[in-house]
Amino acid sequence: MSTIIAGTPVTAGLGALFATHGMTKKTVVLFDEHTRKLYGDGLLATLTQEGFQWRELVVPAREASKSFSAAYRLYGTMIEADVDRSWNLLAVGGGVVGDLGGFIAASYYRGIPVIQLPTTLLAMTDSSIGGKVAINHPLGKNLIGFFHLPELVLIDPSYLKTLPQREIYSGMAEVVKYGFIADEAFLSFLDLHFKAITELQEPWLTEAVKKSAFIKNDVVTKDFREENGLRATLNFGHTFAHGLEKLAEYRHLRHGEAVTIGMVCALFLSHNLGYLDTVSLERGLSILKKFRFPKGVLKRRFLDIDSKVLLENMFSDKKKLDKKLRFVVLKRLGEAFLLEKNVDDKSVLKAIDDALTFFSGKRLR
Ligand SMILES: NC(=O)c1ccc[n+]([C@@H]2O[C@H](COP(=O)([O-])OP(=O)(O)OC[C@H]3O[C@@H](n4cnc5c(N)ncnc54)[C@H](O)[C@@H]3O)[C@@H](O)[C@H]2O)c1
Ligand SMILES: [Zn+2]
Repeated sequence: MSTIIAGTPVTAGLGALFATHGMTKKTVVLFDEHTRKLYGDGLLATLTQEGFQWRELVVPAREASKSFSAAYRLYGTMIEADVDRSWNLLAVGGGVVGDLGGFIAASYYRGIPVIQLPTTLLAMTDSSIGGKVAINHPLGKNLIGFFHLPELVLIDPSYLKTLPQREIYSGMAEVVKYGFIADEAFLSFLDLHFKAITELQEPWLTEAVKKSAFIKNDVVTKDFREENGLRATLNFGHTFAHGLEKLAEYRHLRHGEAVTIGMVCALFLSHNLGYLDTVSLERGLSILKKFRFPKGVLKRRFLDIDSKVLLENMFSDKKKLDKKLRFVVLKRLGEAFLLEKNVDDKSVLKAIDDALTFFSGKRLR
């Protein structure tokens, strides 16, 4: 598995760290336009000081950069710069840069090491860990990719100071997800310190980031290739979320926003199917109530949507097996499992309707 290091500044002593991990000081640094502007000069100066030979690559800051054409262009730049197997790639950014950088590293010269330097809350706690790297295909998201574990994951929460609030909430959805699926005490901690964490206050922020990264890494270590159902629990709320993201054309809703709504649906589903008791349902909902959406987003991207239309769009989820939707449900707060049996449409629609009622502020049932 990967070595995960958290600290500020996490790039101190980078040359020695690379050497310990058997990597050369020849590094391709991938940014998006935002991370290049915010952190590029400082980081490249550090690399120069540490005696690195480096090349920089920059892609537009958008999901569309996770494309074959972007990767193809970057391969060309690397070949022209004489980058060979002895080099490695450092991905500096959110999940877009991490996934694209990992994809390029996995394929270039049959694979060079990738080092992840995540700069969004989502990337620090989720996408940079676990080795799933992918680009999108016009027919679906994340369809073309590899398992390519990062040699190192370097987490420095101080990068979050420049991250817009909307992105903080989006990442926070995955953080809360870990509490739901794996650790009730962590969920209580998040409930108690929700405001402090989303305001980036220490030590709560670092504690939340580290714990999330630890849980993700632990799950991935135990079920790397998603074979025994454990890794699949990371998809709690995601079957609903993927339908919402598709309806929002992958643009108008942040992934974490869709996951927040998806987790409300999944809590109701868990309860309605008889797995989760009422007290736990209410507690779970009270945490999810703390999430904020930009004005109009919740209404347009969820409340105005018919539950049947959402269900139809959930079927395009690539994780479906034999056209059956797969759902992760909670047994209790802190323990999730992948439902093997088929869930009938009626139960799914009911869970969505319950979530619609919840978010519209009406009383339930
Ligand atoms: N590989 C996995 O296991 C995995 C898991 C979850 C999500 N993902 C992928 O991650 C992607 C989403 O990642 P994301 O939410 O990080 O989005 P993102 O990479 O698009 O980043 C969001 C925005 O924040 C900007 N940004 C990044 N760091 C910043 C900083 N420190 N300060 C200011 N702005 C900053 C980016 O430029 C971008 O505009 C999706 O493509 C998704 O498929 C992958
Ligand atoms: Zn997710």
